[in-house]
Amino acid sequence: MTTILIMVPILAVSSVCVFLLLMVLRLINEMNFLKLLACFGQSGSQCAPMPVTWHQRPRTYHDGYINIRTHEPLELDCSHCAIVSNSGQMIGQKVGPEIDHSSCIWRMNNAPTKGYTEDVGRRTTIRVVSHTSVPLLLKDPSYFFKETNDTIYVIWGPFRNMRQDGKGIVYNMLRKVVENYTGAKIYITTEMRMNYCDSVFKRETGRDRVQSGSYLSTGWFTMILAMDACEGIHVYGMINDTYCTTNGFRKVPYHYYEPGRYECDEYILHENAPYGGHRFITEKRVFAKWSKLHNITFSHPDWTLP
Ligand SMILES: *[C@@H]1O[C@H](CO)[C@@H](O)[C@H](O)[C@H]1NC(C)=O
Ligand SMILES: *[C@@H]1O[C@H](CO)[C@@H](O)[C@H](O)[C@H]1NC(C)=O
Ligand SMILES: *[C@@H]1O[C@H](CO)[C@@H](O)[C@H](O)[C@H]1NC(C)=O
Ligand SMILES: *[C@@H]1O[C@H](CO)[C@@H](O)[C@H](O)[C@H]1NC(C)=O
Repeated sequence: MTTILIMVPILAVSSVCVFLLLMVLRLINEMNFLKLLACFGQSGSQCAPMPVTWHQRPRTYHDGYINIRTHEPLELDCSHCAIVSNSGQMIGQKVGPEIDHSSCIWRMNNAPTKGYTEDVGRRTTIRVVSHTSVPLLLKDPSYFFKETNDTIYVIWGPFRNMRQDGKGIVYNMLRKVVENYTGAKIYITTEMRMNYCDSVFKRETGRDRVQSGSYLSTGWFTMILAMDACEGIHVYGMINDTYCTTNGFRKVPYHYYEPGRYECDEYILHENAPYGGHRFITEKRVFAKWSKLHNITFSHPDWTLP
């Protein structure tokens, strides 16, 4: 009887301890594990709370992105990343070989390499794809999911299209792809991660994405994941936020692989659209700010923050 009376509080205390330990482990996972290890046994600046700056060492696992077949989180091993913009700025730049030397090469949506390798390179490590671009990949499934089956696909989209209960139209398309192309590496962005990306927009711009009637761009999702995964990021072909109002700017197509539309025309149209636009120019202002905190460089055109 007395043993039981003693055991009850001990059990209660130990379960609280286990809970706290789990919380701490969770936090360690969120933060930079190696840095934290280096911290043990020391005091002072190194152990101060993590400032909002570049994680010296990229994370390997990204649990906001789940493999559609295995349900495993995304695993990336990147150090020097190249993000290749879809912009017409890439035309004639001849940086393909330089891009191909990066450890991870990031592309967006259905941006082709075939026919453009001299300018944009031939390798693709990761392709970040919007839910609205999935049908474009499905126009050439054997190319995207068989020939280039070493590429990782990270798909982002709203819950209504990505839900996994049979009612998510884009999720259903992707399920069919992995049934047919069993080697395809396709990951979907979790609802929690989607909300996180929205919250970053709100934090950086002070505006609520939904209330301000806008959609985040694929570039936004790409940059957020790349900042977690890479030691350094070299962005090719992305203009800055003042480019389109600079005298004598270079007028190039919106996409390097699609004539007809022009980059600045599209950006200004989207920036001012009352509903349903991408805030490309606002996003670039945020990327510029991030480039000072993280290890990001922009070239073709070259620009750096003063
Ligand atoms: C399945 O894959 C085969 C071989 O690549 C292809 O011919 C066929 O069209 C695919 N079917 C669907 C529904 O994607
Ligand atoms: C990827 O494609 C190559 C060539 O088409 C094939 O030999 C290989 O088995 C595929 N890998 C997977 C994981 O399906
Ligand atoms: C920044 O990125 C460049 C290029 O990717 C890399 O060479 C350099 O080591 C990185 N610096 C730090 C502090 O991670
Ligand atoms: C932004 O781009 C324009 C046009 O290329 C350039 O004149 C300007 O200096 C750039 N701004 C910054 C901060 O680099």
